[in-house]
Amino acid sequence: MLIKRAKGWELPESKTTPESHYLNRRAMVRAMGFGAASIALPAQLMAQDKSADPSAGLYPGRRNDRYGVPTPMTAEKLATTYNNFYEFGTDKSIWRDAQKLEVRPWTIKVGGMVEKPFEIGIDDLLAKVQLEERVYRHRCVETWSMIVPWSGFPVRSLVELCKPLGSAKFIVMKTLSKPSVMREQRDLLYPWPYTEGLAMDEAMNDLAFIATGLYGKPMPKQNGAPLRLVAPWKYGFKNVKSIVSVEFTDKKPKTFWEGLQSSEYGFWANVNPEVAHPRWSQATEKPLGSDQRIPTLLYNGYAEFVAGLYTDRKAEKLFM
Ligand code: MTE
Repeated sequence: MLIKRAKGWELPESKTTPESHYLNRRAMVRAMGFGAASIALPAQLMAQDKSADPSAGLYPGRRNDRYGVPTPMTAEKLATTYNNFYEFGTDKSIWRDAQKLEVRPWTIKVGGMVEKPFEIGIDDLLAKVQLEERVYRHRCVETWSMIVPWSGFPVRSLVELCKPLGSAKFIVMKTLSKPSVMREQRDLLYPWPYTEGLAMDEAMNDLAFIATGLYGKPMPKQNGAPLRLVAPWKYGFKNVKSIVSVEFTDKKPKTFWEGLQSSEYGFWANVNPEVAHPRWSQATEKPLGSDQRIPTLLYNGYAEFVAGLYTDRKAEKLFM
């Protein structure tokens, strides 16, 4: 039997398991727990000033409020010190370790069902797209939520650049593999690299976003520098960080959490307050920094933009 120290990311506070418990893989997933948010803005974060990144002058992107500007905005220090980035550890306070991630040079490999595979550096990619800022709600499957200003560009712009074949049905994105820095990747109980994907029509939807910045600055490392997916109508685990690979395929990909626990996490993962996680309700959420729980909204409040994507997919498990 494989054993694993439990320090996970997704258990409501009421069910938090002490870190000292040693559990097998199944039990580990069952015991994923909340960590505590840091209080003060740490020195390393303060040091992440504009001179540190060659793309710093590009931020903030011009505000696009077409999809609403939800309030209240989450405090920057909370959104940048309370993170899920399993590669660096399974608790919420990985921001310090994540500073070891080097984000230049950074190359993204494009392949699979495309006219011609290619590689592109992050700064060349940034030169080809129009950056904008969008304030989106973010709803983690663990039931915490936040509202933050992302800078970036539509996934559609990335797709157009990649020139997928007409027969491609899914876009698949993967996180960097670097066990020397991303220590948790040495733990082979997880199906590394972190992999996520969208169906092509989801990827082409206006809301689907590649974020390269946050709070008007280049993306903090702990939030997924230099680029990550943001699909705000889905649970946060869809939003793969620190992307190095973009592939197109005609087969539905096996994603990271599906690979770990397919009875609890699926491909579509759309937010729905009426469909409970097997181990907890999804009816309400707790905004970071607030003591009050608030009702969760269908598609995280973005139904008017995305509900139409699923009218012909009713037979599938759309909400897990
Ligand atoms: N991407 C990678 N590579 N590794 C992760 O552990 N966690 C996911 C998602 N993307 C994760 C990831 C989860 S569960 C959530 S809720 C969001 O990132 C958290 O993003 P944030 O830390 O910027 O709030």
